Amino acid sequence: MKSQSNQSTKATKMVKKIGLIGCGAIGTVLAEAIERKLVICDELVVFDADAAKAQKLKASLTFPVKIANSVDQLLAAKPKVVVEAAGQQAVRDYFDKLVASNAEIIIMSTGALLSLNVDDPKIHFPAGAIGGLDAIAAAANAAITEVTLTSRKNPKALNKTNTEETIVYEGTAKEAARLFPREMNVAATLALTVKPVQVKVKVVSDPKVTRNTHEINVKWRYGEMQLRFANDPHPDNPHTSALAAWAAIQLLKTLL
Ligand SMILES: NC(=O)c1ccc[n+]([C@@H]2O[C@H](COP(=O)([O-])OP(=O)(O)OC[C@H]3O[C@@H](n4cnc5c(N)ncnc54)[C@H](O)[C@@H]3O)[C@@H](O)[C@H]2O)c1
Repeated sequence: MKSQSNQSTKATKMVKKIGLIGCGAIGTVLAEAIERKLVICDELVVFDADAAKAQKLKASLTFPVKIANSVDQLLAAKPKVVVEAAGQQAVRDYFDKLVASNAEIIIMSTGALLSLNVDDPKIHFPAGAIGGLDAIAAAANAAITEVTLTSRKNPKALNKTNTEETIVYEGTAKEAARLFPREMNVAATLALTVKPVQVKVKVVSDPKVTRNTHEINVKWRYGEMQLRFANDPHPDNPHTSALAAWAAIQLLKTLL
């Protein structure tokens, strides 16, 4: 009897899978965290529009990785959590399929979420290149009167060539995330946290800085907040802050 029940426990044991869309800078850090058992799962299923990127990632790991040829195939593997680390267009293209699946979904390219219905509890986004969203969200419950975000990056991280400090954008979070889809998802993350309050965004291209710096100022009903993040750019992708991948890892751990 005992061995039978053990067998049936074995047979019904859930295999914990993670789905990953996008095998670039963030996807690679995430896969390496799984390889190092910082994130515990049984299998990683990956999809990248560039099949060579998926092959390269699989070849760099000893952990079991399955390569899917499409998002449909990735979802058919029934991952518990799917991480999007591909780009805003990928979110727009796959959003309906992702929401229709049973997986918990982590979105990195948060700029795309500003024009999608994100009320579904399966949709999650990490703090990414910033933090303190718990305090900001708490203040939003009372009343936020002003939120400003100043992002300062080296021209290389913004595809610019200016040799003097230059303000390259001033306006709304939605527009910043649209005009800088690879660099200003952070503005969208903040906007999603305080909506419907508007976030005033300034993007500065500064040859003197090497780190991606985000300064957030919040004025709210019962006080003020100042938060500052100076993040090393990801070595493989200067548009991305290294912190973003670690924020995804942290969220992934809580959802598995
Ligand atoms: N939320 C944040 O704070 C934050 C911070 C940094 C980066 N990001 C965003 O996260 C995303 C991933 O960043 P990254 O640095 O890993 O980018 P990356 O360019 O290094 O990698 C993206 C990968 O996705 C693949 N890809 C692109 N379009 C695809 C599609 N439609 N379907 C499948 N695969 C596709 C590419 O081939 C590439 O391998 C970007 O949109 C980036 O802007 C968000």
